[in-house]
Amino acid sequence: MALLPILCYPDQRLHKVAQPVRAVDDRIRALIDDMLETMYDASGIGLAATQIDVHERLVVIDVSEERNQPLVLINAEITWMSDVRVKGEEGCLSVPGIYDGVERATAVKVTALDRHGQTQNIEAEGMLAICIQHELDHLKGKVFVEYLSPLKQGRIKTKLVKAQKAER
Ligand code: NI
Repeated sequence: MALLPILCYPDQRLHKVAQPVRAVDDRIRALIDDMLETMYDASGIGLAATQIDVHERLVVIDVSEERNQPLVLINAEITWMSDVRVKGEEGCLSVPGIYDGVERATAVKVTALDRHGQTQNIEAEGMLAICIQHELDHLKGKVFVEYLSPLKQGRIKTKLVKAQKAER
């Protein structure tokens, strides 16, 4: 297992569109283990492959308090979304230190493969529903700050570019 470097907004690679995983094999399972380790190490509740510069439809999530209920979604598709929407505060491991309100469906149904290549159907609400929508956006090349006003996006870009320069 290994910790993987996480791409930081406004890195253009965060806007690449992920391709379907062709086969759920040992390579994918090793990647899943590394992504889970990376997500837990960074105290995140979700990580999409896009964020580690792998452009395949793979996300890992754990919204449990105990950090012991990993959920792996391969080639996930949202099959239903509630009309009811809620605005909640979101953050992202690729946008460190920034939190802002995003409107999302309160509940979703998702079909995906698990780490054994088996189909799983998930009905999610609350934080899990929001996290799934956030992570699947990453696979489309979309970062949550893109829901914010252009003015806010500009400010966030400037702040993060400065922070990244200071780190080097
Ligand atoms: Ni994110």
